Amino acid sequence: MESKSEGKKTPAGSPGKERASQSPPKRTPSPQTDDLLPGHHWAQAPLKVVDIGTGTGLWAVDFGDKFPNCEVIGTDISPIQPTWVPPNVKLWARYYYDCTQPFTFAPDSIDFFHMRYMTGSLSVQGWYDLFKEAFRCTKPGGYFESFEAAPFFTSDDGTVTETSALSQWGKLFVEGGKKIGATFSMVVDGTQTKGMEEAGYVDIEERDFKVPMGRWPKDPKLKELGTFAYAAIATDIEGYVLYMANLQGWTKEEVGVYAAHLRREMNNTDIHGFYKVKVVWGRKPE
Ligand SMILES: C[S@@+](CC[C@H](N)C(=O)[O-])C[C@H]1O[C@@H](n2cnc3c(N)ncnc32)[C@H](O)[C@@H]1O
Repeated sequence: MESKSEGKKTPAGSPGKERASQSPPKRTPSPQTDDLLPGHHWAQAPLKVVDIGTGTGLWAVDFGDKFPNCEVIGTDISPIQPTWVPPNVKLWARYYYDCTQPFTFAPDSIDFFHMRYMTGSLSVQGWYDLFKEAFRCTKPGGYFESFEAAPFFTSDDGTVTETSALSQWGKLFVEGGKKIGATFSMVVDGTQTKGMEEAGYVDIEERDFKVPMGRWPKDPKLKELGTFAYAAIATDIEGYVLYMANLQGWTKEEVGVYAAHLRREMNNTDIHGFYKVKVVWGRKPE
């Protein structure tokens, strides 16, 4: 994919010139803060925030509720957004919000770009191009935050074995992704940080998290997290894997058998599986 430039044409009917908002206060995120980009940064000014690939708009709505001073726009190509949202939140699904295309926001106009769980949506080059487009539209002093998950389930104690269904999950997606030109490997390849650096963002910081799969953790908070992670996958294993499995020639029966093995492993509290999540943010210099 070609690199995008400012000179590219804005499609008709797009938002075009965006209202300028007050510059965010200068600060360097501190490694001591528990939060990702700390909340007080966003609470101070009427900032303009864009959630790329917003899906059901969960993040955008939560952010808008928490920071009513901010104008939050969630963009997507798929019209699955709710209409009952806070007054400072807009969820827009339009063809020109395809994030593989030149961005339609005005240059230097967005205080904060956020993007989460876009794994499998873009090619490797697509990620690099997207960060460049976002950089062009980020207001000097503004931020980009990228939250992505690795597709692999692993364990620290060897309970996720090489031949397990949990181990097969990541391979299924990475190999399937190669067939459709989409990457699932941004976390392992360091694409978020490399892409932000190449685009020009500075003061880049990373945070790594482990998300347990299932109810195996003793710690109540991790157990709750694992229960939600389990629910997110176990309720529709076939839905997740069918397309990728088809691409690799699996039969419907093979998908059914795989789903049964995976569900059994995810329910087994002697198997201590988790997946890794990486959050990266960077600032556009003034
Ligand atoms: C896994 S969902 C994540 C939704 C949301 N970010 C979240 O964390 O809840 C991925 C979303 O990206 C959207 N998407 C995929 N490719 C896209 C593209 N090229 N441009 C814009 N949105 C895209 C999909 O329509 C889907 O809503």
